[in-house]
Amino acid sequence: MDKSTPQAIHLKDYAPPPYLIDTVDLAFDLGEDVTRVRSRLAIRANPDAASPAGALVLDGQDMRLVSVALDGRTLDPSEYSVGPESLTIPGPPEAFSLEVVTELKPQENTSLSGLYRTSGNFCTQCEAEGFRKITYFLDRPDVMARYRTTITADALKYPVMLSNGNLVASSKMEGDGRHTVTWEDPFAKPSYLFALVAGVLVHVEDSYVTRSGRTVTLRIYVEPGNQDKCGHAMASLKKSMAWDEEVFGLEYDLDIFMIVAVGDFNMGAMENKGLNVFNTKYVLAKPETATDTDFLGVEAVVAHEYFHNWTGNRVTCRDWFQLSLKEGLTVFRDQEFSSDMHSRPVKRIADVQRLRAAQFPEDSGPMAHPVRPDSYIEINNFYTTTVYEKGAEVVRMIHTLLGADGFRKGMDLYFERHDGQAVTCDDFVAAMEDAAGKDLGQFRRWYSQAGTPELAVTGEYDAAARTYRLTVRQSCPPTPGQPTKLPFHIPLALGLLDPSGADIPLRLAGEPGPAGTSRVLDVTGPEQVFEFVDVPRQPVPSLLRGFSAPVKLRAPYTDDDLTFLMAHDGDAFNRWEAGQTLATRLLLDLVADRAENRPLELSPGFIDAFSRILKDPDLDPAFAAQALTLPSEGYLGQQMPVIDVDGIHEVRTFARRAIAGRLRDDLLATYRAMGGNEPFSIDAAAIGRRALKNLALGYLMALEDAEAVELCVGQFHNAQAMTDVIAALGLLADTRLPQRESALRRFYDLWKDEPLVVDKWFSIQAMSERPETLDEVAALLAHPAFEIRNPNKVYALIGGFAGGNPVRFHDAGGGGYRFLADQVLALNRLNPQVASRMVKMFARWRKYDPRRQSLMRAELERIVATPGLSRDVFEIASKSLEAS
Ligand code: TRP
Ligand code: ZN
Repeated sequence: MDKSTPQAIHLKDYAPPPYLIDTVDLAFDLGEDVTRVRSRLAIRANPDAASPAGALVLDGQDMRLVSVALDGRTLDPSEYSVGPESLTIPGPPEAFSLEVVTELKPQENTSLSGLYRTSGNFCTQCEAEGFRKITYFLDRPDVMARYRTTITADALKYPVMLSNGNLVASSKMEGDGRHTVTWEDPFAKPSYLFALVAGVLVHVEDSYVTRSGRTVTLRIYVEPGNQDKCGHAMASLKKSMAWDEEVFGLEYDLDIFMIVAVGDFNMGAMENKGLNVFNTKYVLAKPETATDTDFLGVEAVVAHEYFHNWTGNRVTCRDWFQLSLKEGLTVFRDQEFSSDMHSRPVKRIADVQRLRAAQFPEDSGPMAHPVRPDSYIEINNFYTTTVYEKGAEVVRMIHTLLGADGFRKGMDLYFERHDGQAVTCDDFVAAMEDAAGKDLGQFRRWYSQAGTPELAVTGEYDAAARTYRLTVRQSCPPTPGQPTKLPFHIPLALGLLDPSGADIPLRLAGEPGPAGTSRVLDVTGPEQVFEFVDVPRQPVPSLLRGFSAPVKLRAPYTDDDLTFLMAHDGDAFNRWEAGQTLATRLLLDLVADRAENRPLELSPGFIDAFSRILKDPDLDPAFAAQALTLPSEGYLGQQMPVIDVDGIHEVRTFARRAIAGRLRDDLLATYRAMGGNEPFSIDAAAIGRRALKNLALGYLMALEDAEAVELCVGQFHNAQAMTDVIAALGLLADTRLPQRESALRRFYDLWKDEPLVVDKWFSIQAMSERPETLDEVAALLAHPAFEIRNPNKVYALIGGFAGGNPVRFHDAGGGGYRFLADQVLALNRLNPQVASRMVKMFARWRKYDPRRQSLMRAELERIVATPGLSRDVFEIASKSLEAS
């Protein structure tokens, strides 16, 4: 096979494994130069395999094979063959033991997959295919085994040595200063859930008594000096455990649950059985160092990984095409948990914003793929917002269609049927169907068809007949490999508002009486008409309440309808949505005005609507902050056939100034009202007040008058909470004020020993709208605190610039593009997963004007032409150039 063009793997080629592995006995000898791994496997032919077992082909890469023994006899090298990614033993017996010894150099592993080093400690990351870099194995999730892990290392350098399950032995070796521990995991698991950690770590400990009365030890391990930042993660863990018992009846199943926080980690966190490994970003938090967003992130990710114990670990994926089986479901679960801990509408709005900002673009670009992909070149490229967030929306739609009770019955049946198994998305849907007695046949298309459906809705009121006819049409644009689509089963939640703003009781033609004021219609055809009867007056429809499906809604609302819904809709999400729709419309009109050299003017009616929100004493401040935030530049760009980067930036800035100018006194009053000097607390109300205060400060700083600058500089210097410090610093960073440089310098001097805070310092500079930002970002690559091997630093500086600064990244000169491509190529050799996340920023190049298109295409072509490209980067760059 041609090694230079990586091959795709297809779902349709799935076959059960020819062999099964029942037990794995691992012995690690951790060394500074070489780490030795001895693996003893109990293997047998799989009775359910499609064909006779034949040769045993184990996965393995980047290791030195030392020896192979079968049933106790060391094999001669002529009795097996070793390829760059495999070890093959031709014709082994039906059942046998295999002992393999390999040697690794974790200190040279910069990919952060497999066994690697972080801050002098040892750490593993095995999902998706990292275990094969530790030992030869059937490294696929449908091979589930029980693991026993022995670790030996220098007792001073590695006093703490952890693996999955329970500690069953530990001993100090005589004389040589080394010690040994053994861990045993009683639950069979796939190799991607294996974990090992060793090093100098301290822990905070707590305990949790489960509903059935078992006491579980909870430990969070961190580097010395970070113990004071673990309280929030621990509290979040205990809340998650209680929530999963209460809402899903799910209890934890081992005697100990451990979290280890490491500074070098590709993703957020990893759900290894009994031993979660976390990026420090999602563990360490105290008010002085972490923003409210960070606190909420810690809570959500701790919950997410904990929830995986059932949705992912006890019931796992048959193959990686089924990734959303665990990720979509677990994201849905963590979203529900956060909703219950804080405000449901505020959480829903944040989740939908995220979906629209990241998933909608993915779904309409060259990397568009179904929630259950059909093929991949590199599985690490499919840990996407489609698999995670759209996958969660699909689970949420099942929840909507079945109701909370039906959904719970479905979950119970899913665990009853599949505990201890590796299953498919289809198995999940079947359990839901069977438990609730509802046909989800057509609904399954959400798993197989990519693209964001469009829902066009029109309404017709007949005053004489007192009927309201709603016509619903659905369509879905083509995506790579899927030129045409079949209709989806879309749950359309809606209400009808009478002129006073009250919900009208909803009765469909043919029904004996009204059934509630908010209900869910089953949209299944390309075009459907729903007729409501007994409608006393022309209503305004409130459509897609709570964002009941991940679609683009088109409805012929007038500006007055939207203003009305903003003020009256009983569904909080739709009140927010009406304001966003109106703002989007007005801002896009202004972008057109600017392009035609017409003068810019923001509608006074819109400013009045903003003013009413600002002055409404009954509104939740967190909700008000969301409602008063204009649609992002990225979202506005998505609505244009050709993204006008400069026009959008200028118009949005203009609108912010216009609002601030007209509402200056109200904004000042809000700033003062929300900025009380109460002690820091992390509850939803306090977070909401800080959000609204900093929103007001942001608008005031759009004016940059003396009073605003004084407030902002004062907040920067005096605030105790990082949320407030960062809000002020971010605003100063966009200005040319003399206080800008001194604030940035002071911030760095104060926080240079806190890596997570230094990340914020990098990203604030990377996202500054000032024209000199690219030069400054390039210079920061050489800053002593920047480290290209550390993913968090890359995401903060390079990702902050390319992903969070549209005007500067898309500068018409093309300097931003050249910069990103250079960084992608540098990262490609060190850490393909991180490189691939960066190269994705080029994927939507066809959405820009011809000049920018050709600049971006040239950089993608330069990347693809580079020898030694990883599969990760190759797949993204080549698919970006291919599709149109
Ligand atoms: N399963 C992890 C989650 O909770 C994702 C993850 C963590 C991951 N580290 C990874 C995936 C490395 C691929 C590679 O969502
Ligand atoms: Zn996950």
